[in-house]
Amino acid sequence: MLKTNFQVSEEYLRRALSSLEALEGRNGKGNEFLGWLDLPEATPSFLIDECEQVASLWREMGVQVVVVIGIGGSYLGAKASIEALRHAFEEDVNPGKMRVVFAGHNLSEEYHAELLDFIEDKNVACVVISKSGTTTEPAVAFRLVKEHIEKKYPAQEACRRIVAVTDAASGALKSLSTQKGYKTFVIPGDVGGRFSVLTPVGLLPIILAGYDIREMMKGACDMARRCREKNYDNPAVRYAAARNELYASGKKIEILVNFNPKLQYVGEWWKQLYGESEGKDGKGIFPAAVNFTTDLHSMGQYIQGGERILFETVVSVKHPKRELVIGHDAQNLDELNFLAGKHLDECNKMAELGTRLAHIDGGVPNLQVEMDTIDEYNLGELFFFFEKACGISGYMLDVNPFDQPDVETYKKNMFALLDKPKYEEASKAIRLRLKD
Ligand code: PA5
Repeated sequence: MLKTNFQVSEEYLRRALSSLEALEGRNGKGNEFLGWLDLPEATPSFLIDECEQVASLWREMGVQVVVVIGIGGSYLGAKASIEALRHAFEEDVNPGKMRVVFAGHNLSEEYHAELLDFIEDKNVACVVISKSGTTTEPAVAFRLVKEHIEKKYPAQEACRRIVAVTDAASGALKSLSTQKGYKTFVIPGDVGGRFSVLTPVGLLPIILAGYDIREMMKGACDMARRCREKNYDNPAVRYAAARNELYASGKKIEILVNFNPKLQYVGEWWKQLYGESEGKDGKGIFPAAVNFTTDLHSMGQYIQGGERILFETVVSVKHPKRELVIGHDAQNLDELNFLAGKHLDECNKMAELGTRLAHIDGGVPNLQVEMDTIDEYNLGELFFFFEKACGISGYMLDVNPFDQPDVETYKKNMFALLDKPKYEEASKAIRLRLKD
């Protein structure tokens, strides 16, 4: 069970509790997007069965690679889960396993050309995920992958190799899927992208990669129960209170720290969750993430000695799933015999403790979230904990945590520069500006 160590004042705890009440009472800002609160308990078993049926069908068809297309909330939850759960050298260790790769999360020509090289001689299928169904990056990637699949397989078979996850009724992806006859899964209208990991957005890719989504749901359910409690022991209340108190004291940047590279993309997922939810109206903690001990050799100096506007939240893992003991060397030329007989994890834990103490001494307050081990259950707990705390924390900041109005600004410029129809005036204006 997830444990935390947040020290917080009564005043901030009280404020966090009243934000929890607004969230639970569904009467705060953005309350039309609170469907994610119910996902752990309300997701029907048949939905998971349906995702499993896609996985079985594609396995029977001999699919080797599934290209999952999406960006932001439509990919980071699945990516974070799969990276956390997979063997670090999966392709060599489990060569027969259906492999999930991601696309449409950037517009790089090299990346997508190399993806097409990679799938050229593979048995391939595709899941395209977009709630709006109109986001440029995944739409472009889907056009490329769809063309590849349609060239390679007869029409009916191509159709069986594509699944869309999108809105129930609106958007270009929905109409394209209906016309082509793709199997589709629905993203509920009241769940925003970055809160959607427990909808088919996350469920389907995670199941396709071979992981146990029911366990993840169990973890999320248990955490949902804990995070509903209207008391100061509620971990989401404590985390939201702690980070807001630190923010008010001038700590403007929060760094999510892991000591296990498997959690790198949990950091990316968390950055989107908090960055898009809180960074608005001229407010918000800037979310950053590091992988230790790796980044102690790159970012460690700044964290220890740079500007004192940082605090850290360390995601600790209590039990590694593997054991490795450092051996004794009779010659001891590397002078490491003081570590002989110790588990590598003990070294990692001492690095973690030593770093936390050093950072606290250096003026970087330290919060800790401890998970038992990295598995589906614990990830379910962790995801829901961070989501719930994010809703509470956004309300404490007095922003709407469930919209992202400022993301549109770059899109308008990009469309104007690419001469998208209906952007003619903006195209003229931006070209004039660029002449100056
Ligand atoms: O959290 C969000 O809502 C966004 O980050 C979206 O997930 C992201 O922009 C992708 O949008 P869509 O799923 O509509 O393609």
